Amino acid sequence: MKKKWLSIVLASALVVSCTACGSKATPTGGTASAKTTDGKTITVGFSQVGAESDWRTANTTSMKGTFTKANGYNLVFDDAQQKQENQITAIRNFIQQEVNYIVLAPVTETGWDTVLKEAKDAKIPVIIVDRMVKVSDESLYTAWVGSNFKLEGQKATEWLKDFAAAKGLKNSDLHIVDIQGTIGASAQIGRTEGLEEAAKTNGWDLLAKESGEFTQAKGQEVMESFIKQYPNLNVVYCENDNEAFGAIDALTAAGKTVGSDIKNGQVMVMSFDCTKAGLTDTLNGKITLDTECNPLHGPRVQKIIDALKSGGTVDKKAYVDEEMFCADTTVPKVSISGQDFNVTKLTQDVLSKRAY
Ligand code: AHR
Repeated sequence: MKKKWLSIVLASALVVSCTACGSKATPTGGTASAKTTDGKTITVGFSQVGAESDWRTANTTSMKGTFTKANGYNLVFDDAQQKQENQITAIRNFIQQEVNYIVLAPVTETGWDTVLKEAKDAKIPVIIVDRMVKVSDESLYTAWVGSNFKLEGQKATEWLKDFAAAKGLKNSDLHIVDIQGTIGASAQIGRTEGLEEAAKTNGWDLLAKESGEFTQAKGQEVMESFIKQYPNLNVVYCENDNEAFGAIDALTAAGKTVGSDIKNGQVMVMSFDCTKAGLTDTLNGKITLDTECNPLHGPRVQKIIDALKSGGTVDKKAYVDEEMFCADTTVPKVSISGQDFNVTKLTQDVLSKRAY
């Protein structure tokens, strides 16, 4: 069902990109100026990573739902299909089209200096959203808004430590595999670092790590290979919900039971994102802990653009607040460097209020 939904989303993405091709604000090679002449409409070029996950779909929906004609925007949307070279081409096209603002959701952190310098030279403000960029000159972008991915990893692993202790498990009882996100993406870097540091501190057995590229298909493939290589694994740290869906399918097909009862042979699946589908699996006990990564960035980016438009100042970097969800109340909160983070008890009511 999740795969079917993805096909529908991909089909809609095609329709959107074809619509753009018919207008003068085309993201793929059009030479006409995208800047509107009525003096009111703001043209925003948005380079999106792709459509690799349910999270990404929710993020695209948030951006498209915010930068609408009715709200006074002309959105030039480009889906880079998880390829940095496509994002660089899209940004160059936005510059050529003289958009008013460029919004970039970067696939990886590095490799942006040249193209962002071109945008700066063209005097087009660049707003980075979701993942971060690592550039030699911070003035190459105007503002960034997104998640604290390292903190997400720290919260999840602190919960694992407390949960294992509460269930009478020793550190040496945990045998963990990490299905990583796209290598070099902030979401992968932060979540992997969080796990590696906790494994070192707690003396956990971190058996292996490999990228599942944030997709269900690759998550399943990596899990199948881990099951063959590490028959003693009992914790799967998935760096997003779609990888978790693939991992659960692979574990179930291999005759394993997913759940939190590690002592009785269950394999615990942990995940990030907290999409509706992810939280449904959390409520069903297939995912034990889901740590939120909030995709609703459209209004946040709009706020930045509104401030810039009226000559105001904006925060260079802004982190969004995020929660953790678990159907089990064994660990109601975790503490990191003296700061407490609640673990929300997931119920049907909480799930039904989820917007994405
Ligand atoms: O950068 C955010 C991450 O990218 C989300 O966790 C994942 O689902 C997406 O593909």
